[in-house]
Amino acid sequence: MADLYPVPEAVSAGASGPLRTFDAYLRAAHRAGSDPSGYWLQQARERLAWRTPPTVGLQGGYHTVAGEPFTWFADGVLNVTESCLDRHLGPRGNKTAILWEGDEPGDVRTLSYAELHTEVCRTANALRHLGVGSGDRVVIYMGMVPEAAIAMLACARLGAIHSVVFGGFSAESLRDRVLDCGARVVITQDEGRRGGRPIPLKATTDEALQGLEIDQVLVYRHTGAEVGFDPERDVWWHEVVPHAGDTHRAVPMDAEDPLFILYTSGSTGKPKGLVHTTAGYLLWTSWTCETTFDLREDDVFACVADIGWITGHSYIVYGPLANGATTLMFESTPLYPDAGRYWDMVERHNITVFYTAPTAIRALAAHGSEPVERHDRSTLRVLGTVGEPINADAWRWYHDVVGEGRCTIVDTWWQTETGGHMITPIAPITATKPGSATLPLPGILPVLLDSEDRVIFGPGEGRLCIAHPWPGQARTVWGDHARYVQTYFGHFRSLYFTGDGARRDTDGYYWITGRVDDVLNISGHRMGTAEFESALNASDEVSEAAVVPFPHDVKGQGVYAYIVLQPGSDDHELQSRLNALCRERIGAHARIDALQIVPGLPKTRSGKVMRRILRKVAEGQPENLGDISTLADPSVVKAIVAGAVDTSG
Ligand code: WTA
Repeated sequence: MADLYPVPEAVSAGASGPLRTFDAYLRAAHRAGSDPSGYWLQQARERLAWRTPPTVGLQGGYHTVAGEPFTWFADGVLNVTESCLDRHLGPRGNKTAILWEGDEPGDVRTLSYAELHTEVCRTANALRHLGVGSGDRVVIYMGMVPEAAIAMLACARLGAIHSVVFGGFSAESLRDRVLDCGARVVITQDEGRRGGRPIPLKATTDEALQGLEIDQVLVYRHTGAEVGFDPERDVWWHEVVPHAGDTHRAVPMDAEDPLFILYTSGSTGKPKGLVHTTAGYLLWTSWTCETTFDLREDDVFACVADIGWITGHSYIVYGPLANGATTLMFESTPLYPDAGRYWDMVERHNITVFYTAPTAIRALAAHGSEPVERHDRSTLRVLGTVGEPINADAWRWYHDVVGEGRCTIVDTWWQTETGGHMITPIAPITATKPGSATLPLPGILPVLLDSEDRVIFGPGEGRLCIAHPWPGQARTVWGDHARYVQTYFGHFRSLYFTGDGARRDTDGYYWITGRVDDVLNISGHRMGTAEFESALNASDEVSEAAVVPFPHDVKGQGVYAYIVLQPGSDDHELQSRLNALCRERIGAHARIDALQIVPGLPKTRSGKVMRRILRKVAEGQPENLGDISTLADPSVVKAIVAGAVDTSG
């Protein structure tokens, strides 16, 4: 059996979250499991600031989802910013809400709850003046500056639906998302900064919006760089926001009105815009943020994800602010100016809860313990990880070196679709095992299915599904409910299919084994094999392309591309040309790690590419390819195996 790490006494002492003992967890799990609707209705009424409190919990369910989405708290009326800001003004007006650390160490800005409230009101007024109203879509394409969070909250205050696009995405990806959600206004900044380098956000926005009918682009000046400016369309943030009124009455919204759209990758080339709604999402992020991390009043909470991903939405903005916490926003990278940056911040800001991704942990572990030990980390209590499976070695390094064995690790499994944590340790109570996400939160009912779609009882490994809706679950795909139904409920009757595989051990602990669909997880960034393939197929040098993942020491997974060249094409420096193409079509985070030119792809007689074979070869295991007799041309396999790129080091 794997090692079991009991929660250190110092972590459980003084616990103040909703679940402080294992017994309380079991009781909550029992109640939430036997009456989910009533359990979450009570939580929602107690936890959120309502204009009209709801009287109903869940309506509908997975059995009705094909007809219309299920709903939570449907007759309630609220505005999320009143839970995140207004109600804190009395008790926490002077408390730091956002603690921002810029790209250069020590470049710090703080906004108290009162200041953040004022900025959000001003920005809401300015956006209203630009014509933004309830239900309108606003795309936010910014770096990690407080104004990105302010922009999100200002949209929420107006009832406008924000869609944040990660600042690493290319013009083409940005354009696709603007078009898909029908945005009227885009908010961006002159430039972002990361690791001493500028990120040309405004220039990319200009390229993305060429020829599109966009009412207005609101531009925040951050670095002061010269940027293009279209006076008909563009508006400087500093020319409108500071002059706008500093009070704004939040627009009351129905519980099930969309709060935001966030695009994520699936198994087709077209990203899907997952829709999260107002009350259910806010309850889930608020409750999980307090429960999992045992968030306390004097905590300094640091989630170093990017606001462009769901982790940034849920655990930089909505979850911490709904709890009145101090939340850190970090503009730089873990390696800038050196591998001690995170721990330097922990020391300077007295961070107590630190939340990052396995990729960053592995990259830092490769630099050894000195950059960590150089800094005082005695304030740390809880260390979180998210985004991909964490291997036991990285887990132990995080636990032993970063946490000096004093802190507990919360390995939180969840997804863009789930809104917040699903399977995770609860900091003060759950004994941990390196590499296991441990136990489901109350009300979360995981089901494992074997290869014949039978439910596995007790220990076993299979495809991970969830049996019952929870409040934070995405309700639909923007503009394409059929795709939502097909992707998540089209596989197994009345179960939500996560796309992940998992193992359950004899203690009932879950070990996520990774995606079982065509989704890649590169450094915790979720991308589809189909997105890569459609980018590669756009090259006139490429006749066919197939992309599969392989295990990568630091990034978790690397990208392996098999390319069939067009006759007459030259393979000299092909990889860098194709990487430039991926960058242009997808974004800066999309690159191929290994490239193999093949005479053909292994296809069945009906023309389906047998990815299983490609994966095995990419993983360096060409011995067990399984049955290849159904291939149209088995000889291509020989050539593929003979020319395989060594990915082992
Ligand atoms: C993976 C990120 C193992 C998983 C919040 C999931 C994890 C995908 C973990 C969602 C974890 C996330 N252990 N795997 N603790 N957390 N994943 O939508 O494959 O960007 O399906 O959401 O990341 O990625 P997404």
